[in-house]
Parts: sequence; C-alpha cells; structure tokens
Amino acid sequence: MKNKKLELLFPTQIWRARLKFDRAFRKDLIRECQAFRELDDHGKKWSAKHYLAGYTSYSSIANLHERSSSFLLLKTAIDREVKMYADSLEFDLKSHRGRTLRMSAFWINIMGRFAHHSFHLHPLSAISGTYYLAVPAKSPGLKFEDPRIAAFMGSPPRKTAATRNNQQYVEIRCDEGEVLLFESWLKHEVRANADGRERISVSFNYDWA
Ligand SMILES: [Fe+2]
Repeated sequence: MKNKKLELLFPTQIWRARLKFDRAFRKDLIRECQAFRELDDHGKKWSAKHYLAGYTSYSSIANLHERSSSFLLLKTAIDREVKMYADSLEFDLKSHRGRTLRMSAFWINIMGRFAHHSFHLHPLSAISGTYYLAVPAKSPGLKFEDPRIAAFMGSPPRKTAATRNNQQYVEIRCDEGEVLLFESWLKHEVRANADGRERISVSFNYDWA
C-alpha cells in the first residue's frame, strides 16, 4: 500500500502465558480445590443459587493464597505475569505514591455440565484473570466482547470470516497450565460447559489501591 497507512489505535490487550508448574503440581491444586469445595458449605449454598451446576468460592473463600502454600506459590508466578502485562500496557504505577497493584481476591471455579457464567466485568479492579487446571475437550474458553460495542450505532456488522482483530466477540480457549490476563473493565463470559467432566480454574483480581 503505497502512500496509505492503517493505524491500529486503542487496542485491547490480552495476556496469555504458560506457567512453569507441571502436571503433578496442577493435580495437587485440583485436589485442593475439591477439598475446599467439600468443606465450604456457605460457598456450596451460594453456588446453588448463583452458579447453577457449578461451584465457585467467590463469595466464601477468596483468599486462596493465604490458606494454602501451593496457591501462594501460584500467586507468586501470577504476580510476575501481571507485572509483565502491566509493563506491556505501560501503566504508570510510580507517580501515585502509596498505591500498588496487588492481588485482592483469588478464588475457585468448578463448572459441571451446562454450568455457565454470563457476561460480566470486575468493576472494582484493574487486572483480572484465570489460571486453568482442568479443561475438558468440549468445555468452552473465555469469550470477550468488543468494549466499544455500545458506541456502534450505524456501524455495519463484520463479516463472519473477518480477521480476529475485527471480530466483535472473540473466545480464547487456554490449555491446562496457562494463565489469561485482561483489564477488569473488559466484558467476558463462559459459555455452557458441554462436557460431562468438570472444568476447573482459579480466578483472581488485582486492584490498584
Ligand atoms: Fe469474570
């Protein structure tokens, strides 16, 4: 394209990385998640009402790193990824004294068959994400919505086969052992789990406070 230039402005950055932990360590984490579920009566009750066909410790055990040394180890690895992601976003974290970017919540998600989590965002946080422990073959990824969508009035729809950059919804399906980070204002959902096996992950928020 001579004399022509296409600029990509205001990109939405998503960070995806494989962490160093092996299968055996992840199996231990899965066992811990199941043990927490077993003991967490409040969480099970809350999930029966708000998280059908699944269990989340979001309302009951949201400090995994303070309860378990393996989750503390996992947090340390996630902290490093968050730091790199924040660098990629070129956050200016130094000119506001007293504020730091730090993990504020860390919880379990176990989704049985047909469990889903409809579109939402994490409004009080800066960076959110998920680390994947069990991703059965027919379980979904994490589906993101174009954050500009409310401003699309007379804008034509995109072609079905449009490149990923021009799609209005993009689903990223991580493998077991990968972590996905996104800015907390970005709307996302998990479609219904079509697999009979449980999809197991842990999610977290980082606040700038
Ligand atoms: Fe979420």
